[in-house]
Amino acid sequence: MDNKLIFPEGFWWGSATSGPQSEGSFNKPHESIFDYWYKIEPEAFFDKVGPRITSNFYNSYKEDLAMLKEIGLNSFRTSIQWTRLIKDLETGEPDEDGVRFYNAVIDETISNGIIPVMNLHHFDLPIELYEKYGGWESKHVVKLFVRFAETAFKLFGDRVKYWTTFNEPIVIVEGQYLYEFHYPKVVDGKKAMQVLYNVNLASASVIKRFRELGLQEQGGKIGIILNLTPAYPRSDSDEDIEASRIADAFFNASFLDPAVKGSFPEKLVELLKMDGVLWESTVEEDRVINEGTVDFLGVNYYQPRRVKAKEAGSLDDRGWMPDKYFDNYDMPGKRMNPYRGWEIYPKAMYDIAINIRDNYDNIPWFISENGMGVQGEEKYVNEEGIIEDDYRIEFFKEHLQYLHQGISEGSNCFGYHTWTPIDCWSWTNAYKNRYGFIAVDLKTKNKTIKKSGRWIKEVSENNGFYKLSQDK
Ligand code: GAL
Repeated sequence: MDNKLIFPEGFWWGSATSGPQSEGSFNKPHESIFDYWYKIEPEAFFDKVGPRITSNFYNSYKEDLAMLKEIGLNSFRTSIQWTRLIKDLETGEPDEDGVRFYNAVIDETISNGIIPVMNLHHFDLPIELYEKYGGWESKHVVKLFVRFAETAFKLFGDRVKYWTTFNEPIVIVEGQYLYEFHYPKVVDGKKAMQVLYNVNLASASVIKRFRELGLQEQGGKIGIILNLTPAYPRSDSDEDIEASRIADAFFNASFLDPAVKGSFPEKLVELLKMDGVLWESTVEEDRVINEGTVDFLGVNYYQPRRVKAKEAGSLDDRGWMPDKYFDNYDMPGKRMNPYRGWEIYPKAMYDIAINIRDNYDNIPWFISENGMGVQGEEKYVNEEGIIEDDYRIEFFKEHLQYLHQGISEGSNCFGYHTWTPIDCWSWTNAYKNRYGFIAVDLKTKNKTIKKSGRWIKEVSENNGFYKLSQDK
């Protein structure tokens, strides 16, 4: 009895994907920055596998959702692609086939007894909006995003009760404007900070519209999905601690504070002002951010950030960068996922839970992504053709144990979603690392449930599991 970890009643046991990573680009009226990038630079993608087909969800959503039900998931997040739903990007007029498709997905999800959680932006800006306006650098694009969101709310708000505005918005800033891992690979700190502001403004403006449309009164809730990577200092020296606080302000609080508290961290604003890279904003826009706070929070957690004080001489020639204030710290002996190159540190689940409880009003939140990408899983196939991914089960259990501890100490967490239900396309890593409960054979399109898929079913049915040490 003592060794069984039971989660709160009604706990979400689910999994997440996104439109651009699962649907394939079939019949989309517009191209996203990823569709375009693949066209001009296919070698930037692992094995040159692009976003054209991905996991074929556009065609196989019925079978796929039935499989999600089969493995016991009670909730599922995906995203509505701006480039699929909207025909006219300026007016927000919908595309007929886009409407048909998302209606079908939502209805099918619900008829399988699964709660749909719909996200509105997962790095998939329409390329035209970058070419015409500079994408998220532009406040006009913020307005167009609100029109898209409004169309989605009006079409699907009667059935979708959980919405999120952005997935990992800091990744837009990092990938597109600082560290060159997403198209257009611009390196420009000042633009990056304007984008950071504009995306916060876009999220808050969409939340405002959601409330104006009365979706809250119909039982709808709206949140945001943030990748919180707690910044741990190398040591307890004042310099290392200060460096970790600044990294935290840049990469976590820069979205978390506006989303939950309605304002940016003072420290961040102060540094940006001092360095002459503060964004341009109006009093009215600040007010929208102030009022457009979320109903709930989704937290993606994969890895921590380790930080040390800036070392003399380590300044670079990229112009102004947040890295001016800290260095990343390569901690000796850290536990690694060698395939993804990410540290594994389950205790951060607890730290996140307590941080939200103590510093963010104990707002309702859920883990919206957590997972382990592994390359070459075919080598774990047993005689019955099932991938025995025990490493993944262990990974989930370890993280869940810390999450449970946070919950039992009062943190208001209502669910746990893994990344991802069915192996999907991971941006430039394409299909290199697999994360799913369900494997996809890229050649035959055959889908098979892994051992972890059977495991999650039991966990979901029991609303918990036995602690690691007690396991057979
Ligand atoms: C997350 C992202 C997902 C997925 C995952 C695994 O950061 O939200 O889209 O790619 O990483 O790579």
